[in-house]
Amino acid sequence: MPAVVLVGAQWGDEGKGKITDFLAEQADCIVRYQGGSNAGHTVELAKEKFMLHLIPSGILHAEKLCVIGNGVVVDLGKVIEEIDGLHQRGIDTSNLRISSRASVVMPYHKKIDEIEDRTKKIGTTKRGIGPTYADKISRIGFRISDLLHEEYFREKFAAEVERKNRLLEDFYDEPGFDADVMLEQLMTQIGILKKYIADTACLVHTDLRVGKNVLFEGAQGTLLDIDHGTYPFVTSSYPTAGGACVGSGIGPTEIGKVIGVAKAYTTRVGEGPFPTELEDATGELLRDRGAEFGVTTGRPRRCGWLDAVILRYAARINGLTDLAITKLDVLDSFETVKICVAYRYKGELLYEFPDNIHVLQECIPEYIEMPGWNQDISQITEFNNLPLATRNYIAKIEELSGVKQSLLAVGPKRSQTIVTNSLF
Ligand code: IMP
Repeated sequence: MPAVVLVGAQWGDEGKGKITDFLAEQADCIVRYQGGSNAGHTVELAKEKFMLHLIPSGILHAEKLCVIGNGVVVDLGKVIEEIDGLHQRGIDTSNLRISSRASVVMPYHKKIDEIEDRTKKIGTTKRGIGPTYADKISRIGFRISDLLHEEYFREKFAAEVERKNRLLEDFYDEPGFDADVMLEQLMTQIGILKKYIADTACLVHTDLRVGKNVLFEGAQGTLLDIDHGTYPFVTSSYPTAGGACVGSGIGPTEIGKVIGVAKAYTTRVGEGPFPTELEDATGELLRDRGAEFGVTTGRPRRCGWLDAVILRYAARINGLTDLAITKLDVLDSFETVKICVAYRYKGELLYEFPDNIHVLQECIPEYIEMPGWNQDISQITEFNNLPLATRNYIAKIEELSGVKQSLLAVGPKRSQTIVTNSLF
């Protein structure tokens, strides 16, 4: 089947951007289905690095349909900035479509996110993600199509701004927003974006009907999923595979493959329990070698050994058919490498990922230790040319997760990718 979903199998930042970019070559349509400008990936344009937060990296291929789906929360100003940035670099964006059903991130959402994270201490990206999804679920949010009908939008918007101002001024003792100023800005923005807006579910459906290859690109990762992640230290959307259906308007029967992208070790940004975290020189080494700093916020990422309990969980929650293992080269200088195979909680061995963060907080990883390869693998292009220790490490990951690997990344460049099974 031509529909492939790509999900992060850990806490995000697994290198999905590189894999998406690689698979986009074979795709006719790339769909982003959740999240917002909290995500970020770097694309290289003629030796220049450029960051995209909302627009799928498939935009670099003029002939491919690039969709921001209904499950995404859209900061209109940020999309315009990204479009302008692409235009300045000579990239055509006429292949971009934004769902008319997507929710709009308002300036007050970003303000509330920033204020509330001071006490909630989730360590959010302050991009207004949680408050926008909260309003969507509370049925007081605004969708892109609302902005296209100013006559209905104006009054409802003024009432909502008044409510938000009461919250900001009376409860948080912070300045409120001027509804008229915001309205004018929103109308200007929607005017600029109008030509990109569409009922994108219809477009994706049409592509699937005629047998085109569609790639659904998840942002963040399984453990940041609002239901299946380490709640409350999660994002407010569904990065898991099921999110691809609701966030783009296609049925589950359309999906042929679900690829889990996993780093060869583990990282996370923001707060929350992380059993295999290494707060020592080994963790530092992983951060330095892996350049583990956030694309969106620049924050240093917390680093640790690979956690197979997480991978098994991600395999089950997402129905993974394939694994893409990234950043294997980051482990090049280790004499030995460790994999967490279970957790010890109050003396008991746990093989399933706990449903409660307080339990997770107290879990001690049970490791196996394997010989490292201690050599540069970044130029190897064939699986069979990888050192035996690397192949053993990969085989152990497959065994522990129950998922076959189909793609390995041994460096950031497209050429540093080893494909062992076709993904479309
Ligand atoms: P929010 O998505 O900004 O609400 O942040 C909620 C949590 O998700 C925080 O721990 C963030 O650090 C984390 N998060 C959000 N986006 C990403 C991402 O793209 N990569 C990794 N972590 C993320």
